Parts: sequence; structure tokens; C-alpha cells
Amino acid sequence: MKPIVISLGGSIISKETLELEFIQKFSRMLKNTEKFDKFGIVVGGGRLARTYISSLKEYNINDNVLDEIGINATRMNALTVSTFLEGVNSKIPTTVNDASELVAVYRHVVMGGTEPGHTTDTVATLLAERIGARTLINATSVDGVYSDDPKKVKNARKFDHLSYDEAIKLAVDKSIGAGPNVFMDITALNIAKRSKLKVCVIDGTNMEEYEKVMEGKSISGTVIE
Ligand SMILES: Nc1ncnc2c1ncn2[C@@H]1O[C@H](COP(=O)(O)OP(=O)(O)OP(=O)(O)O)[C@@H](O)[C@H]1O
Ligand SMILES: [Mg+2]
Repeated sequence: MKPIVISLGGSIISKETLELEFIQKFSRMLKNTEKFDKFGIVVGGGRLARTYISSLKEYNINDNVLDEIGINATRMNALTVSTFLEGVNSKIPTTVNDASELVAVYRHVVMGGTEPGHTTDTVATLLAERIGARTLINATSVDGVYSDDPKKVKNARKFDHLSYDEAIKLAVDKSIGAGPNVFMDITALNIAKRSKLKVCVIDGTNMEEYEKVMEGKSISGTVIE
């Protein structure tokens, strides 16, 4: 069976506190799906990264340095997640190359970001491409892709399905003049498109959604393909 890559949004791990209850639930879910594939898990920065970056931004710190700090936050989150999983690497790889070698050794490979300019969603698509995954689960704090940011626009519509080009257009339109909060960045979407990677954007706290993706059932989230 082909491996699956999960882009585990930092937003569901690092909030005001570390969401250890969630991480334990996530770990149990992976354990219960033993008959399924290997998983590559790329963990985002969440509140931990945002706290550092927003404070330092006020002092005009170089963006490249801010990205490095964000990457360090993703690696702290990744190591935290790996501590709660079984059959997993305990040293966090810093490149997709190194992660892809670990896939041969462990059932799960957990990593964070890699280099400035690349979001963890982008790293996840690159890892998927590299290890031949056909499916990417984008686990985040909303339950799918909407016509507008559902946390800001009350009557935003949820999409069941988007083509790559529709998703890219939406991400481009919503990136203009907005903050960094988009459902997935354009680089990640373009890599998914070139590798024909099926992207499932789900509520990352809903374990049934992961199971449905693995079982090939229809999900409440959004499929981009
Ligand atoms: N069109 C949209 N559809 C869905 N969510 C959207 C949309 N536009 C913006 N968002 C926002 O994108 C956010 C998800 O991105 P965010 O980067 O905050 O979380 P994450 O990727 O899970 O975490 P991290 O970036 O820390 O890894 C949601 O909280 C949602 O409010
Ligand atoms: Mg994000």
C-alpha cells in the first residue's frame, strides 16, 4: 500500500497550551489503523511559532530569521508528537531527503519545516511527492475549504470538491491583501497539482475523518484533486 502524508496543522497542537489530549487521541487513531499504510507526518508551528514571530516582527527582524524561528517551533511540535507515537523516528529530520530515508525504517516519520520560504504544507506535498504518496491529509482547525475564511465570514460556503485550478484561484484571490491565513499556500497546491496528489482538507480534531480518508469513504471535508 502507498504511504499517506498528513500535514498536521500547528493550529490544532499548539494553542494557548500544548494540546496533549489531542496528540494522545491522534496517536490512538494511528494505532487503530495498523492495517493501513505508513504515514509521513509534517507538523506545523501553531501558536508557538506565531507568538515568537509576531513579537519579533515589531522589531523589524529579517523575515528569513523569522522563518528560521518558525521552523524551530515546528520541530519542537514535531518532536512532541513523535514522543506520543509508536514505530516512529525520535530525531526530527531537517530535510525531505532525510525524511524519505527514514520512511524505509519506521512506520511513521514525523518532521517539521525545512527551510525559510517553505510552509509545512509545502514540505508535506514535497514529502508526499518524494515517497510516492497518493494522498495528502491537510488536518487543520476548520472542517474544509470555504468560499471565504469561515472564522471571519459567517455565511461562507463549504466546498465538497475543488479542482486544483479552482483551489489555486481561491488561494490566490484570498492571499491578496490578507494575512498569512489561507487554507493552503499556492506553492503547496501547485506541487499537489503537478504530482496529481489527492488533497483532503479535514477538521484535524475529528478522528473519523482520518479513518474515512484511509478507507476511501467520502469525508465531510474538502477534496482537492
Ligand atoms: N477559504 C478558506 N477556507 C478555509 N479556511 C480558511 C480559508 N481562508 C482562510 N482560512 C483560515 O485558514 C486557517 C488555517 O490555517 P492556519 O495556518 O491558521 O492553520 P494550520 O495550517 O492548521 O496551522 P499552522 O499554520 O500553524 O500549521 C483557518 O483557521 C481558517 O480560518
Ligand atoms: Mg498553516
